[in-house]
Amino acid sequence: MPNYLLYGANGYTGRLIAREAVVSGQRPILAGRNAEAVSALASQLGLEHRVFALEDAAATRAGLEGMTAVLHCAGPFAHTAGPMVDACLEARVHYLDITGEISVFEMLAARDTEAMAAGIMLLPGAGFDVVPSDCLAAHLHRRLPEANRLALGFHGIGRFSRGTATTIVENLHAGGVIRRGGVLTHVPAAWQTRDIDFGEGPRLAVTIPWGDVSTAYHSTGIGDIEVYTATSRGQLRMMRLSRHLGWALRSSFVQGLLKRRIQAGPPGPTDEERAKGKTFLWGEVSDSAGHRAVARLRGPEGYTFTMLTALAAVTRVLAGDAPPGYQTPSLAYGPDFVLEVPGVERTDE
Ligand SMILES: NC(=O)c1ccc[n+]([C@@H]2O[C@H](COP(=O)([O-])OP(=O)(O)OC[C@H]3O[C@@H](n4cnc5c(N)ncnc54)[C@H](OP(=O)(O)O)[C@@H]3O)[C@@H](O)[C@H]2O)c1
Repeated sequence: MPNYLLYGANGYTGRLIAREAVVSGQRPILAGRNAEAVSALASQLGLEHRVFALEDAAATRAGLEGMTAVLHCAGPFAHTAGPMVDACLEARVHYLDITGEISVFEMLAARDTEAMAAGIMLLPGAGFDVVPSDCLAAHLHRRLPEANRLALGFHGIGRFSRGTATTIVENLHAGGVIRRGGVLTHVPAAWQTRDIDFGEGPRLAVTIPWGDVSTAYHSTGIGDIEVYTATSRGQLRMMRLSRHLGWALRSSFVQGLLKRRIQAGPPGPTDEERAKGKTFLWGEVSDSAGHRAVARLRGPEGYTFTMLTALAAVTRVLAGDAPPGYQTPSLAYGPDFVLEVPGVERTDE
């Protein structure tokens, strides 16, 4: 029977996925670097486990023995994706992760030829970032194939997990990123604002460096891409202030301070918060002739969304559906893949 390794299983999101995997009848092998935490979770769920650190290349390779795929949930992925992908390429094991980091998407896209040669799939971004937005982008492109501009937006993520907050803190100094003429382009933090109607009236939204500026280009070929998130006037002022604080935000003193505050907080949203939460996405494409198409999508809370999309992707892989090479969610499984997630609705304007 094909099976997969869930690495980073003891993290907030890894645990959600492990629990739901068991509910849906899967028996992944749990893994991570913390022997105590991983073995406790494995015995609680009645699953096998493996313990290894990603710094140990031989142990990582050995940790993949007998596996069809890895679902990599240990982040920030800027530190963890490289060694795991190296091991996957050597061991010929499909690689899936839940990153949202632009640099990681780009690093994986650059390894497409190696993945093709090894016959394995590299599918980063199998979570909330970027499954729903990527599928929305591909759906809009299908409606307007001549489109050369894409704007995406989302809101409703709610409370972040420690891992997400840490990833954001590590990238605070970096400002914004958009795509212009096919090229990833650095712009100041909170570069553009616009009012977006996510389905319940217009809301203020601001550009952020979200994964789709990397992935939607691969999915659609559209060269001009911006991603927005709903914001408040106060948050917008803080984001603009951060433009002048890059040096401080990068310093190990401020990084340490912010990360200690994150670690002192709760691991992520409670089950009740997740059950109540909802996410809203909006996308717009336009072409040079002035044609425009808009679509919206609504779905479960962000971490629940991540758990469900990651499991939907891994289920496809275990069934033998894993196109080799670098993939985005919509390239691998089509624009309608996200509609397989319970509670997801898409509407066209
Ligand atoms: N794309 C999305 O929509 C989405 C959704 C959810 C999460 N994420 C991302 O997924 C990552 C994890 O989030 P989380 O909420 O689960 O965070 P978390 O609760 O802080 O858990 C992080 C996990 O990663 C492991 N880890 C961190 N650095 C490691 C390293 N260098 N080597 C091995 N293991 C390492 C941790 O192991 P230890 O316990 O041993 O430290 C832990 O298991 C974050 O980067 C987050 O941004 C993305």
